[in-house]
Order: sequence, then C-alpha cells, then structure tokens
Amino acid sequence: MVRVLFVCLGNICRSPMAEAVFRDLVKKEQLEDQIQIDSCGTGDWHLGEAPHAGTKEILHQQGISCDGMKSRLLTADDFKQFDYMVAMDQNNYRTLIQTGGQERAAVVKLMKFVEDIEDDDIPDPYYTGDFGQTYRLVSEGCNRLLQFLKEKHHLA
Ligand code: 4NP
Repeated sequence: MVRVLFVCLGNICRSPMAEAVFRDLVKKEQLEDQIQIDSCGTGDWHLGEAPHAGTKEILHQQGISCDGMKSRLLTADDFKQFDYMVAMDQNNYRTLIQTGGQERAAVVKLMKFVEDIEDDDIPDPYYTGDFGQTYRLVSEGCNRLLQFLKEKHHLA
C-alpha cells in the first residue's frame, strides 16, 4: 500500500481538490486497494469544514465527488502514516520540512512532478478566486504523480 497525503494551508481549497481528483484517477485505474489518499492543512482556521464552494463547484463540473470531506489539521503522526506528503506550494513545503524532522515520509511539491513549468507553486484560489487555474494545475500534477507512483511502486 502506498499512502499519499495532500497538504495545503486551509485544507478547504487546493488539497481537498487534489484529494478528490487523485481519488477519481486512482479509482478509474482500479488502484484503490493499492493507494491510500487523504488531505490536511497546516493552519487551523477551517477545521471540520467542507471544501470551499469554488472547489466544490469545479469538482461538480468535472463529475468528481468531494462528499463527506472535512478539513483537518496536519498531525505529527502523519509523518509516520504516509509515504508521500504532497505540498501545494513552497509555504506548505517549508512547514512540512520544518515540522517533520527525520520522519520517513517523502515531502514533495505536487508541481515537481510536472516537467517544463516555470512556477512549481499552485496559487491559492482562496486569494486569487481562480479555481479553474487551480483545477488545471492540480489535475496535471495528479496525473503525473500517479504515473510516477505506478512506475516507482510497480502498481498495476
Ligand atoms: P487552501 O486555501 O490552503 O488552498 O485551502 C486557503 C484557505 C483558507 C485560508 C488560506 C488559504 N485562510 O487563511 O483562511
């Protein structure tokens, strides 16, 4: 089993979108029993809340469910429970590196899996309002991440 945790600041916009998109891709490839997926935030402003209306709307347009998802905070245990902690931007990445110490999870940025991009941060739609841009980047990153995991862990 490969365990993947998507991480952003509030866990209401980007990381729940990545969780839902990645879950959908994994399901389509029938790899649900080989990849475990979750998301969390490094900030505690929205704990227990459902995804942001903008995230819900764009997922709905794509026919992807985010039913039942609720914001939760990053925990120390996450560094032991997950194999990959996938940050949405440099701020989340830095928080993970600073709090994780020598734990075993690999800490990476989602857009590092995408070649030929100038900026490997996913802009925060909580501030930009551009959930379409977020979806395009998250979708591209999740597709590449799945290809990487399939090859690295020989999933089929
Ligand atoms: P997210 O966006 O990290 O993509 O979930 C944010 C949501 C809420 C806040 C910041 C970013 N906030 O400051 O409340």
